Amino acid sequence: MAKAKSKAQAKSEQAAVDEKLPQSMQPSRYVEKVSLVTGEVLDDPIQPQHLLVENHRDYHLADVQAGRFMSKLMETTRDEGKVRERMKEVREKGKRAAERIAKMLGKDPEKVSKALFGLKRKEYYFRYKKYPATEERIAAYIERKKKEARELFDRAHDEGLGIRFLLTGGTGFVGQEILWQAAHNDAFREVVVLIRPKEIRDRKTGELQRTITPGERGEALLDRLWLRKPEQRAKFRFVAGDVEQPRLGISDEDFETLRGTMTHVIHCAASVAFDDPYAKSFLANVTGTLNALTFSDGLQKDDKSPFVAHLGIETSYIHGRQVNDLAREDEVVFPRNFYNNYYELTKAMASIETENFMLREGLRVTQLCPAIVIGESRAGNNRGDTKVVNAPVNVFGRAHEALNQKKGNWSDRSKASVLARMACVFPGDPSAQINLIPVDWVACGILAALERPEAVGERIHLATDNRLKSEDMLQTVEQEVGVKVRLADPTMHRNVTLPVLTTVLAKLGQERLGNALEKLGTIFGGYSEWGQPIHEVGKDVRVLGMPENRPNTLHAFRMLCRHNRYVQEFGKVRDDDEISRREEIWWNFILDLEKQTATTAGAIEAGEFRRRLERHLDLETFTPRSVAS
Ligand SMILES: NC(=O)c1ccc[n+]([C@@H]2O[C@H](COP(=O)([O-])OP(=O)(O)OC[C@H]3O[C@@H](n4cnc5c(N)ncnc54)[C@H](OP(=O)(O)O)[C@@H]3O)[C@@H](O)[C@H]2O)c1
Repeated sequence: MAKAKSKAQAKSEQAAVDEKLPQSMQPSRYVEKVSLVTGEVLDDPIQPQHLLVENHRDYHLADVQAGRFMSKLMETTRDEGKVRERMKEVREKGKRAAERIAKMLGKDPEKVSKALFGLKRKEYYFRYKKYPATEERIAAYIERKKKEARELFDRAHDEGLGIRFLLTGGTGFVGQEILWQAAHNDAFREVVVLIRPKEIRDRKTGELQRTITPGERGEALLDRLWLRKPEQRAKFRFVAGDVEQPRLGISDEDFETLRGTMTHVIHCAASVAFDDPYAKSFLANVTGTLNALTFSDGLQKDDKSPFVAHLGIETSYIHGRQVNDLAREDEVVFPRNFYNNYYELTKAMASIETENFMLREGLRVTQLCPAIVIGESRAGNNRGDTKVVNAPVNVFGRAHEALNQKKGNWSDRSKASVLARMACVFPGDPSAQINLIPVDWVACGILAALERPEAVGERIHLATDNRLKSEDMLQTVEQEVGVKVRLADPTMHRNVTLPVLTTVLAKLGQERLGNALEKLGTIFGGYSEWGQPIHEVGKDVRVLGMPENRPNTLHAFRMLCRHNRYVQEFGKVRDDDEISRREEIWWNFILDLEKQTATTAGAIEAGEFRRRLERHLDLETFTPRSVAS
């Protein structure tokens, strides 16, 4: 109870902060509220929290039942369009019934409707403000930008410059894969990575122990990418900077060199935290993007610069919960069912800023929008990433280990077993489709865009066309991790099960497990609720020239589970150097295995994979058996 109160308090404190946001950070810069009755734009203030799913969710049990019913209907009919129609009819009937009852009782229909069915009547909707130009003018303008980019690209090629790019976010999950692929491709002559210094602080006291310089971070990065030969390292340089600073915080001296050499800028840095407050996400994602755009614009407007184009890395979840229509590559529409978190919302705002900047300033820009990025498709390597889908897989894996714990007395073991069983519940709908895309496909798309000037002016989804359902994912987790996870109704889980569970866990001194479960349920659960967006794909192949067959998501997810189990030990191995050592051994093992079996590792059944792995590797020390013995 005390916990619920402090959460509510935190929420209202946050709302108070959001009310005082400066004009430049206000959602009304991008979004307008429109009356459903008159079609007029309303003058009401728009607070960030108004744009999130959680502000509009109905917590009523009748609504829960309706969701369940729709899910069952989906299972039997497999016709999503029909199910959505039916959902609409049911809601309309509910509203009409509530109105009749309200009339009989002489009460407010809105209140009766909410009390009986959990239905809220909205008399407004949100939409994004449009850039003031006709579609024809925009199309003609973009054609000109593509032509310009082609001419400049060819000139850089003719002058022997090739492709030289500045990358922000190079120390991150996606950035590292970009660096790895660029290292192995001669088309990319020079790569400059913008890195901020890293402060190492004492965990307990918070005291600053030392600062790792951008140069040191860069060298360590190349070591971890197994780039050992001087000729492999020669194309990389590191500059100090911070995307939240004007001109990316780059010194005058570094800027002088960059403006004469860089043909492209890839802006990949962001804060990918689903639970950050609005202002923090805004600074990293929108202000960061504006700084990167202004930096590139400075290069483009400089006569001495060979600059060709700017690449902005967004996310296909800028479409939020767009459940009624396909989430199109060409257009961002404010989602009818809002955004899951401020990360998605601020990335959508960043995408709008990018498009407007291109139209207003004439900057040549390509936007690339990955779906939920998972480890590399063949081996599952992720360079220590523990975000998004990794989080639940790691929690289930650790719960499984606790279930099988052989240590301690009977009472300890029983307690561990009860806790683990409690942890193995995930809020979600069995039919919810999640868009997972391996990181190698994403980096391949980003680098392909550097070689395609025709990609300028386009927003391109780097997403899958073979989506997994929650139930498929849990079945794979059972086969690969050995743990049976039950799907719970999300609303019920959030409002009833989770608070009880966290209270019980706190009483048992298991706050950490309680917090992990709460985080899983409230932060990641939104991605497996019913009615996920369907992201259009096609430009990856048409515009970027990528292969027609996108990675097999089931195989890639299987490799994610195996990688997280054996290489990362479900998030317990955290040291970056150790992860890098293990991943290299793992990568070589997978290549050998695929050669021996003439199939992809992800297609091999769990038991067979484990037998072959144990023959090859000593899992205790994580070394190949020939070396270990
Ligand atoms: N991961 C996904 O599932 C996913 C899905 C769709 C789109 N994306 C997009 O892909 C991009 C990369 O994501 P990721 O998963 O690689 O993220 P990540 O692993 O969290 O890495 C974030 C990167 O941004 C850098 N960064 C953050 N704030 C910075 C600042 N103020 N100045 C300089 N650098 C800063 C970080 O540097 P430090 O090392 O110094 O912290 C790090 O290199 C993001 O734009 C993200 O929105 C990711």
